[in-house]
Amino acid sequence: MRKNVLVITSSLRTNSNSEVLAKQFVKGAEKNNNVELINLKDYEINFCKGCLACQNTGKCVINDEVKDIIDKVKNSEVLVFGTPIYYYSVSGQLKTLLDG
Ligand SMILES: Cc1cc2nc3c(=O)[nH]c(=O)nc-3n(C[C@H](O)[C@H](O)[C@H](O)COP(=O)(O)O)c2cc1C
Repeated sequence: MRKNVLVITSSLRTNSNSEVLAKQFVKGAEKNNNVELINLKDYEINFCKGCLACQNTGKCVINDEVKDIIDKVKNSEVLVFGTPIYYYSVSGQLKTLLDG
């Protein structure tokens, strides 16, 4: 059964290693699935303020483009991250998304 697959990459480098790997993944996955690839460098993503308003409202107070990404995540059944490793963790761009 075809699934909606969202691939999120997070390197700022053009033709980066993780982007190349993600595109290879897309090539294979799109044979039997609906696949969308996005790169976080194309979105405005601001830092989490830690206000915790989201715990009461379910929404973030920051008006950036994370809401567009969340819509895509909600519409997907499989989520794939392609990221450089920076000091044993994901890139700052991906960490900022996950915090928000
Ligand atoms: C600031 C910095 C920190 C890094 N830290 C790690 C690390 O902790 N472990 C690791 O295996 N590679 C580390 N690397 C190497 C990158 O993960 C590696 O070059 C990766 O392929 C870069 O991904 P990209 O080509 O998609 O941008 C680091 C690179 C940079 C620039």
